[in-house]
Amino acid sequence: MANPASQHTLNKRYPATHRRLRANSHIRELAAAFTLDHRDFIQPLFVDETLSERKESSGMSGVFSETLGSVLASIERDIVAGVTKFLLFPVPSEKSHHPHDTDFDFAVSVVRAVKQRFGADVWLACDLCLCSYTEHGHCGILSPDGTRLLNNETVTTLAEYALHLAEAGADCIAPSDMSDGRVHAIRSVLDATRYDHIAVMSYASKFASAFYGPFRDVCKSTPSASIQLQGRSTYQLSPYNLSDALASAERDLAEGADIIMVKPAVPYLDIVARLSERLLAPLAVYHVSGEYASVELLAREGLIDRHAAHLELWTSFKRAGASIVISYAAREARGWIQGS
Ligand code: PBG
Repeated sequence: MANPASQHTLNKRYPATHRRLRANSHIRELAAAFTLDHRDFIQPLFVDETLSERKESSGMSGVFSETLGSVLASIERDIVAGVTKFLLFPVPSEKSHHPHDTDFDFAVSVVRAVKQRFGADVWLACDLCLCSYTEHGHCGILSPDGTRLLNNETVTTLAEYALHLAEAGADCIAPSDMSDGRVHAIRSVLDATRYDHIAVMSYASKFASAFYGPFRDVCKSTPSASIQLQGRSTYQLSPYNLSDALASAERDLAEGADIIMVKPAVPYLDIVARLSERLLAPLAVYHVSGEYASVELLAREGLIDRHAAHLELWTSFKRAGASIVISYAAREARGWIQGS
């Protein structure tokens, strides 16, 4: 048995005895710095014009490509599950080489149908990008020689697209293309029309990442290998460039973004932590398709507990300073949080 004197020395060396704070759920709740709340979550939605019935994504269990009809039923179920905020990805049937000729009719029809049916009961953000519209799968308009994306032409087209989405009833425009100056262009066109109340959630700190694979399958937006643009690394952020990630977020905020997003989530929680201290804006983190799928695949193999793993990841996002979580499992959030 340890003698009382040596015990005393131990306590002096380590004065804080933390296990008392972990002993039961009551004291753990009291000691918690924050709690998860399903109201902070956004559920992504895919709607694919080519489908006649909804189809489950192969890599992402529980994630469906919806039809114009099935998405309404899906939202109805989500509302019952406590989800009211959505991020829409329209996948049009037509692709073109020059998307400034595109009419965006499909995206407009989805936004209109959702808002006509659910009105103010849902908050609908719409992703704004050309990658599902271009034959080559890049996020903007390609130069005639195929060596770069034309920034200003892309921004002009995106601003027109944003106006169509606002007219259709979108609550928020979420540009994910990473062109320079697009937030300013979108904000200007919305403010010049009667859409100054529509928010902009900018994918500001969006990194060139290996974790977007399952999403690109669903959105048919994998960049073509025949275009020599090194994936998306000529326009998405470099994982090595910390100052660019911070400066892009500050620039988008200065250009009028209301919400700043960091994506992917787990590899960039250091960016979330820094931005949450620097920016006076709600910060969203996007747990992207490949990150989600990695949890799902481990769970499917019986190697981890799906629900506990997602909850632990969400906790890390909040701890890092995110106020908004975009997750493919958002529709599970209320049930899982209440049951935890
Ligand atoms: C479109 C876009 C992408 C994602 C959101 N918007 C893919 C990409 O940039 O290649 C990724 C989302 C996910 O992987 O869940 N530009």
